Amino acid sequence: TDTDLPRVLAGARVLPVLTVPSVATAGPLADALAAGGARCAEVTFRTPDAELVVKAMAAHGGLVVGAGTVLTPQQAERAVAAGARFVVSPGFDEEVVAKCRELGVPVVPGVATATELMRALKAGLDTVKLFPAEPLGGLQTLRALAAPFPRTRFVPTGGIDASRLAAYLAHPAVLAVGGSWMATPDHLDRGDYGEIRRLTAQAVERSMT
Ligand code: 3PG
Repeated sequence: TDTDLPRVLAGARVLPVLTVPSVATAGPLADALAAGGARCAEVTFRTPDAELVVKAMAAHGGLVVGAGTVLTPQQAERAVAAGARFVVSPGFDEEVVAKCRELGVPVVPGVATATELMRALKAGLDTVKLFPAEPLGGLQTLRALAAPFPRTRFVPTGGIDASRLAAYLAHPAVLAVGGSWMATPDHLDRGDYGEIRRLTAQAVERSMT
C-alpha cells in the first residue's frame, strides 16, 4: 500500500475519525468503512483499547490506518508499534513531530493560528490539520490562513459533517476533510454498521462531486 500520506489523503478526500470504545467492534467497523468506500481512517487515542483497535483495523488491509489524538512521543511510539501508518495530533508539539520523524511515520499536527502553522513549517511539515475547523470560523478562516502559506496542505477537522464537506474540498489547499460524523461512538454502541457504511458512502460520493 501507498506510504506517501499526502497522496493517500488526496486520493481518499475523506478521513473518518474514530473513537472506538472496544476492540470487539474494530473488525465490523473496518468492514463498514471499507464497504462505504473509505480508504483511510484515524483511530483516536482516547480509549483504553485504541492500540488494539489500530492493530485490528490495520490487519483488515483495506484501509490505511493512522492514530489520532496523539499528544506525547510515547503515544506516538505505541501507535506506530501497533501498526499506525500516520499520526495525527490536535495541536503542534515539537517532540511528537521529532519522534514521528525518528520512527519514519508521517505526522499531521493540528494548527489553529498562523503562528502554529509557522512552527509546523519550521519543523519541515507541509501538511497540517486545521483544528477545530468549524468553531475557528470554518472555510472563511481556512481561506484566510491558507493564503499566506501557498505550499501548505490542510486537513480541516472538527465540527464538519456531510453538509459542509464539498465546500471544504473545493478549496485547492484542502487535501482531505476529517470528521467523526460517519462513525460515532453512538453508532458503535448500537452496532449500527449499516448506518456507518451509508454515511461513509454518502461522504465518499459527495467528495467526488
Ligand atoms: C478529532 O479529534 O479530529 C475530532 O474529534 C474530530 O472532530 P469531529 O468529532 O468534530 O468531527
